[in-house]
Parts: sequence; C-alpha cells; structure tokens
Amino acid sequence: MSRTPVTVTVTGAAGQIGYALLFRVASGQLLGPDTPVRLRLLEITPALSAAEGTAMELDDSAFPLLTGIDITDDPDVAFDGANVALLVGARPRTKGMERGDLLEANGGIFKPQGRAINGHAADDVKVLVVGNPANTNALIAKAAAPDVPAERFTAMTRLDHNRALSQLSKKTGAPVDQISRLTIWGNHSATQYPDVFHAEIAGKSAAEAVDEAWLADEFIPTVAKRGAAIIEARGASSAASAANAAIDHVHTWVNGTKEGDWTSMAVPSDGSYGVPEGLISSFPVTTANGSYEIVQGLDINAFSRARIDASVRELAEEREAVRGLGLI
Ligand code: NAD
Ligand code: LMR
Repeated sequence: MSRTPVTVTVTGAAGQIGYALLFRVASGQLLGPDTPVRLRLLEITPALSAAEGTAMELDDSAFPLLTGIDITDDPDVAFDGANVALLVGARPRTKGMERGDLLEANGGIFKPQGRAINGHAADDVKVLVVGNPANTNALIAKAAAPDVPAERFTAMTRLDHNRALSQLSKKTGAPVDQISRLTIWGNHSATQYPDVFHAEIAGKSAAEAVDEAWLADEFIPTVAKRGAAIIEARGASSAASAANAAIDHVHTWVNGTKEGDWTSMAVPSDGSYGVPEGLISSFPVTTANGSYEIVQGLDINAFSRARIDASVRELAEEREAVRGLGLI
C-alpha cells in the first residue's frame, strides 16, 4: 500500500451522520481497500471537543488505511487539499423557523464552505452535499466556487434510491440486487419522484410487475416521506442509512456503475429532460473513470412528466429564494 492518501473532508463530523460515516470512510468502504485516507473534520467551535472524541475512537480502531486526522473549525483549513468533500453539517429547522430562514441560515454555512473549496481544495475535488436542503445547499456552494468545474457539486438522493429499491424488493419478492435502472428525479424532499417505468427486475419490466394504484398510493409516498417517517419513529432523522448512502454515492462516482445499470445523483442540470440548466436535480446517471453522465433518451410518460415537473418546480422556487437572499 504505497499510494498517496486521499484527503476526505467531512463537515458536521460530530453529528449523528458523521458518527456513522467516519468509521466506514476510515475502514476503506468509501474509496476501496487499497486507498489510504487522510481525514479532515470540520465542526463549529462548540462541537470541536465532541469531534475530538470521535477522532480518539478512530485512533482506537487502528484502521490500517487511516493515515491521519485533522480537526478544525476553519473551513479554509478543513478543505485544504480535499479530494473528496462530504458536506454533512447543516442548520436544522427549529421551531418557528420559516423556509426562508432555513435557506438563509444554510447560506451562511454553504457559501463560505464553497469559497473555501474554491480556494483550497485539490484540483480533482468531488463534493457531495448531504445537509438539507441538500440540492439547494449544493447550489449555494457551487455558486461560491466559480473555479471548480460545476459538475463536481452533487447532492445526495442515493438514500431515496436505496429506499425505492428496498420497497420494490419487498413488494415483488425480488432481491434488491436483481433490480436495476430505478431513478429518483428532482429534489431530496417530499416532492421527489421515484420512477420505476424504466426499472427492470432480473431483466424484465418492473412497471409490469406492479400496478399503477400501488405506485401512486403506496410506493411513491412511502419513499418520498420516508425521512419524515423515520424522524417520527426514531425521534431523530436517519443517520446510519444516510451515511450508508453517502458511502454508496461516492463509491459509485469513483468506481463506476454496473454494466446495464445506473444510479441516482442530484447533479447540475445540462437542460436534460426539460430541467432548467444549473438546477441541482436528481437524474439517472452512469459513472465511469471518476466521471458521471446523465442517461439520455428515456421516454417519459405523462404519469412521470407531471411528477418530475412538480419536483423541479420546487427546486426552481428554492433557487429563486436563495437568489433573492443574495446567496447565489
Ligand atoms: P446533527 O445535528 O446530528 O449533526 C450536524 C452537525 O453539523 C452538528 O455536529 C453541528 O455542530 C454541525 N455543523 C453545523 N454547522 C456547521 C458548520 N458550519 N460547519 C461544520 N459543521 C457544522 O445532524 P445529522 O443527523 O448528522 O444530519 C446532518 C444533515 O444531513 C441534516 O441537515 C439532515 O437533515 C441531513 N440529512 C440528509 C439526508 C439526505 O438524504 N440528503 C438524509 C439524512 C439527513
Ligand atoms: C431523510 O431523508 O431521512 C432526511 O433528509 C430527513 C430530514 O429531514 O432530515
């Protein structure tokens, strides 16, 4: 193992997703068993001590691939030389907070982080935004990083993708690894659209294995509202499954999608499928050699069109709101 370590920056490192994520990054599950990792953890000042505790536990795990850990409350230091940036820390919505307040509070986090990425990250940096509202936070960070190619800013809908795989598997009895070509379109919010019309189960149409009433009344709402259902049941938002999806997102981006399959990532739109250019919206994507491409040429039926348009409309409204706040 003589490779140069890859620098992975994790923000919100002392939070619950951070706790579930860091050990998996350090053990090699993010980048593979042959890639040493240097961790840089960013936290707000009051949470530095908790991040130090997590770093002590990382040390105590004696991961062979982990070459070092830096902890800081300064984004310029945290993103210095970052090859992979996992933007997890965000301002949660608290009582009495309006949507605009939430966007503004997150602008105060993601704008400086975008600037720090612009000024200090490695040339090959790949950014995944997990902190909500993830798509719009990614848009804010991207706008603050004009020297970084826009396509390096992505937001996470892999958790929604995995949730959709699991629900379809339960309904049809097919193992998840026999299901391919599922797509999450749009925003990581309740308007997202999980689409099975191009999905296959062991090579056969998934849409033909289920009926439209189940799709409209059960599958789509279950997947789209799963985050809220977990908050209701657990008293806290999803953490281990979110960390798992972050690992999946970056692992797939770096290592490629399987032949004949694709995944879902929220990426800057190039205008494909009528999604306004620049919006960070979820699409079906294939990945190879560390790059991704939006899958082209899919037929979109009327059922799907209406739902994609509704979620994209919400993203456009969020973009207008952050534009109005001077955040992009
Ligand atoms: P958490 O509150 O447990 O942890 C968040 C951490 O971020 C805290 O330790 C906090 O101190 C830190 N933080 C706040 N501002 C920061 C800043 N400016 N710089 C660095 N760190 C900062 O929350 P969590 O459960 O870990 O969730 C994190 C985010 O991920 C939330 O916004 C949550 O809604 C979101 N989330 C997204 C998905 C998805 O699928 N995209 C899924 C689950 C959760
Ligand atoms: C999830 O999908 O589990 C989270 O985004 C929910 C949330 O609001 O934190």
